[in-house]
Amino acid sequence: MPMLLTTMAAALMLLQQAPAEGTDWDAEFGVKRNQPDAVTGELPVEPYLQSNANAGALPYASAELAAAFGGREGIARIAARTVELSEADPRIAEIFVAHDMVRLKRTLGEQFCFLLGAGCDYSGRDMRAAHADMGVTKADLNALVENLQAAMREARVPFAAQNRLLAKLAPMSDSVVAR
Ligand code: HEM
Repeated sequence: MPMLLTTMAAALMLLQQAPAEGTDWDAEFGVKRNQPDAVTGELPVEPYLQSNANAGALPYASAELAAAFGGREGIARIAARTVELSEADPRIAEIFVAHDMVRLKRTLGEQFCFLLGAGCDYSGRDMRAAHADMGVTKADLNALVENLQAAMREARVPFAAQNRLLAKLAPMSDSVVAR
């Protein structure tokens, strides 16, 4: 009898199929991965209504101000640099880890460009939605503002012009800070 059981167990083991090479385990476990867009490199986001109202303030209308930031290109560089400095800033780096920095550089650049009256539309989410559940503190906000100031200094934006951008952003603190 034990002999028969052993034989049956061995037969069963032989019958078990090894999983085929290249099994799609994500599909087996129902794991969904966000694939970056082949052209932009950005990850998909949940649909939302796009509007310049999402930028959180009305734009200036001053060609001099936009020029003080180096026009659209200069503004895009300053926004991207602010993100880079923040990703490398041990005080707040952790907050950025799980987020799409390709998209953030673009949308932050659009927001600055729109607010500075340099002729862009803002296509991102509103400030409350964009920072919901992120747990941003007042100290985190101060760190980010310091990085923006550093980026503007590096780009030799005159101090008065720097302060005009900061004046547009400051009232958004309440929508960004969670506690
Ligand atoms: C007044 C201050 C701030 C402004 C104007 C601002 C602006 C923005 C903008 C325009 C976006 C993009 C929204 C979108 O992609 O739809 C965004 C997203 C984001 N912001 Fe801010 N931000 C501010 C403060 C902060 C602070 C203090 C932190 C953290 C230290 C932070 C972390 C992030 C992160 C991680 C995202 C990506 C969100 C996502 O992937 O869904 N932001 N912010």
